[in-house]
Amino acid sequence: MLTPEENERLANVGPGTPIGNLFRRYWMPAMLSWELPEADCPPIRLRLLGEDMVAFRDTDGNVGVLDKYCPHRRASLFFGRNEECGLRCVYHGWKFDIEGNCVDMPSEPAESNFKDKVKIIAYQTAEFGEVIWLYMGPKESVPPLPKMEWTQVPDTHRGVNKILQPCGWLQGLEGGIDTVHSTFLHRRMAGFGISARDEAIKKSAAATLEVQPTDFGYTYAGIRPMPDDGGNFVRGYHFIMPFYQLRAAQLGSVITGRGDVKPIISGHAWVPVDDENTMVWNFTYSFTDVPLTEGERQQEGSGNEMHKDIDPANGFRSIANAGNDYFLDREMQRTKNFTGINGINTQDRAVQESMGTICDRTQEHLGTTDRAIIMTRKMMLEAARIVEDGGDPPGLGTNIYDLRAIEKILPSDVDWRTALHKEFYQKANYSPEYTPA
Ligand code: FES
Ligand SMILES: [Fe+2]
Repeated sequence: MLTPEENERLANVGPGTPIGNLFRRYWMPAMLSWELPEADCPPIRLRLLGEDMVAFRDTDGNVGVLDKYCPHRRASLFFGRNEECGLRCVYHGWKFDIEGNCVDMPSEPAESNFKDKVKIIAYQTAEFGEVIWLYMGPKESVPPLPKMEWTQVPDTHRGVNKILQPCGWLQGLEGGIDTVHSTFLHRRMAGFGISARDEAIKKSAAATLEVQPTDFGYTYAGIRPMPDDGGNFVRGYHFIMPFYQLRAAQLGSVITGRGDVKPIISGHAWVPVDDENTMVWNFTYSFTDVPLTEGERQQEGSGNEMHKDIDPANGFRSIANAGNDYFLDREMQRTKNFTGINGINTQDRAVQESMGTICDRTQEHLGTTDRAIIMTRKMMLEAARIVEDGGDPPGLGTNIYDLRAIEKILPSDVDWRTALHKEFYQKANYSPEYTPA
């Protein structure tokens, strides 16, 4: 439970707000590379952290992100012409390059140097892993690029997309780190495509959740005792500041030994569009030599498939949404799955959005399995305070690059922190500083 002040503080992401300033200290995924498919293609609208912008790919193929409003008389540069290394406002012809310089001002006399005095807000971009990244913070504190492993594998080993969720960022993030809900929200009745692994998880006792704070956020594990003293099924996760989750997953089954086991890692980033909207980034990747299939790359069945579930022509909104009750089917709910809604992530969106645009966290009753959620809120508020006091927030270092999330069956008498330490951190050549939980 939060105080009304804390809840509001966590929700507000616009310029000058404490949490908004915190987010502005990190690189953020902003666009899929294919949204700007080629040099001099049409500009597109972009809104993040409550700011309206226009993005374009210039003649040299570099991406510029400018304030949406022309500094002359505030016409939208979305209508602009993308021509010869600059975006030209269609109202009076002022033209800006990707750095925000006014490079042409045809409405003024040729001898005027007025154009040298005019600049437009331009944010720094980077492009890797099929994603265009944006940094909206102070120019003197640009952090290293977040080259996490999923951005560095070959394209054949990765799937990435995004979907707009019309609710505050924290609701989405909290839904992602709340591992316990999957036993309920995502349950399928036996015989309806339930995997042997899910069946085994279902039969095991309820998960306990253990959270280990680190210097990048925290590592946590959902621990389920297997039947017949078969050890513990441990599913490891990382929460990386300020909004990433890495989740261990696999195709095939380590539990039953059935099928070819293909270990993969999935993850999300919950990027605030404004106080009331979130762009949820979904990525999946194979960190072994085995590439993903096309279906896996498209995140088949997750509720996150482009065109099937996501409408890119409508701001990446979900096709199943509150307006159509997410295509809720009560008959399906009686016989096939817990919710009557298709697609894991559509089920997630339904409940997260059902809390209201900004959840009233003063009315909650949090239990023992809500530990990770409580920790996240504390961590975000604390990080915002550090930034307010002029310091650097956690999670800016290059040591986050190669963290891996792992799931495994472990003997009941070993601690997952020790047993999985190598696999979590070895690739990153990193050993986090643990602070007492
Ligand atoms: S408003 Fe853009 S050039 Fe005048
Ligand atoms: Fe979920």
